[in-house]
Amino acid sequence: MALINEHFLKLQNSYLFSDIAKKVNSFKVTHPKDKIIRMGIGDVTQPLAPAVIEAMHKAVDDLATTDNFHGYGPEQGYSFLIDAIIKNDYASRGVFLEPGEVFVSDGAKSDCGNIGDILRHDNSIGVLDPVYPVYIDSNVMSGRTGVLEDGKWSDVVYIPCTEANNFTPELPARRVDILYLCYPNNPTGTTLTKDELKKWVNYALANDVLIMYDSAYEAYIQDPNIPHSIYEIKGAKKVAIEFRSFSKTAGFTGVRCGYTVVPKELNGFTLGGERVQLNKLWNRRQTTKFNGTSYITQRGAEAVYSPEGKEQVKATINYYMTNAHIMKEAIQGCGLKVWGGENAPYLWIKAPKDLSSWKFFDKLLYEVNIVGTPGVGFGPSGEGYLRLTAFGDRDDTLEAMARLKKWL
Ligand code: MLT
Repeated sequence: MALINEHFLKLQNSYLFSDIAKKVNSFKVTHPKDKIIRMGIGDVTQPLAPAVIEAMHKAVDDLATTDNFHGYGPEQGYSFLIDAIIKNDYASRGVFLEPGEVFVSDGAKSDCGNIGDILRHDNSIGVLDPVYPVYIDSNVMSGRTGVLEDGKWSDVVYIPCTEANNFTPELPARRVDILYLCYPNNPTGTTLTKDELKKWVNYALANDVLIMYDSAYEAYIQDPNIPHSIYEIKGAKKVAIEFRSFSKTAGFTGVRCGYTVVPKELNGFTLGGERVQLNKLWNRRQTTKFNGTSYITQRGAEAVYSPEGKEQVKATINYYMTNAHIMKEAIQGCGLKVWGGENAPYLWIKAPKDLSSWKFFDKLLYEVNIVGTPGVGFGPSGEGYLRLTAFGDRDDTLEAMARLKKWL
């Protein structure tokens, strides 16, 4: 008899974005003629950069020859991509990493979820609230979160980010072992300055806290004073793991490629207090459970760092950030309060007339045929808010804003 991992039974029936997809699908059945504009899940709409396409075509041709054929690659990723990552994403910002500290993967979502494999089940967790649901749900699966009471897990410390604190989180009131930070933030689109991030790194250094830093949206930062990597802060290599993704940077949501940095200076502890390099454990985990990202994909990712690739990728990011600008102006013009959209592709909107998140979601869907993501789906402090993404096509974005103006 196979016994199940009963922690799965504590989870809500389905993942937030699957729930929303179901609601939208049932709307489509009853309203087949209505044109829905999707601004819900943060999925990109613009094609891959020509430099990426060219590199991937070439990689396919490589596989057609005996000389350039590639079978299993290194589980950690090919050195051509790791070297490009270190040089372009880190050295350019004064951060020096060794090749063995970067692990290429099929995306930040998998790594954020899988990282828990190397950590004990009874670590306490701290999250910003609202929060990307993967951090919570993956810890529920591992039994780290306790029980759900009034929308909150009993063993999770929620650190509210709301209008009341201008979306600047305060250090947790209770001790946490592992802390998840995501900046630029999903879902609120807000950012932390270098000084604010320093406060978190110093807190982690002083209290032996492990920070999981998700910087999947760093390519959207426009303000030069906002840090792209937590390692820009002194001492951070001793306390933080960083997750990065090509999904939003270069439109790889369907291609799948990301990477995780686990510095060699970073230690965890045994119950007996012995220090252990987390890098070794993650390497062991990956070599056992992962066979690497495909050669074709990694060649495509490498091309993101070529001179043409950089230019083309930047143009697409500018396209989305122009959408964000159009949206922010239009939403403010409607008299609504909105945050984000300046250094991130997400806009966080306060629902009008004290509507709940789901009520606002339903009204948008049924009355103006726009799909958003209800803020409460990201955590209790998200109640009364809704997230829109700027990843749409320009014409759709303009049409959505025109509909919104007419409606409000
Ligand atoms: C989101 O909409 O929050 C993201 O697209 C989800 C993800 O990146 O997995």
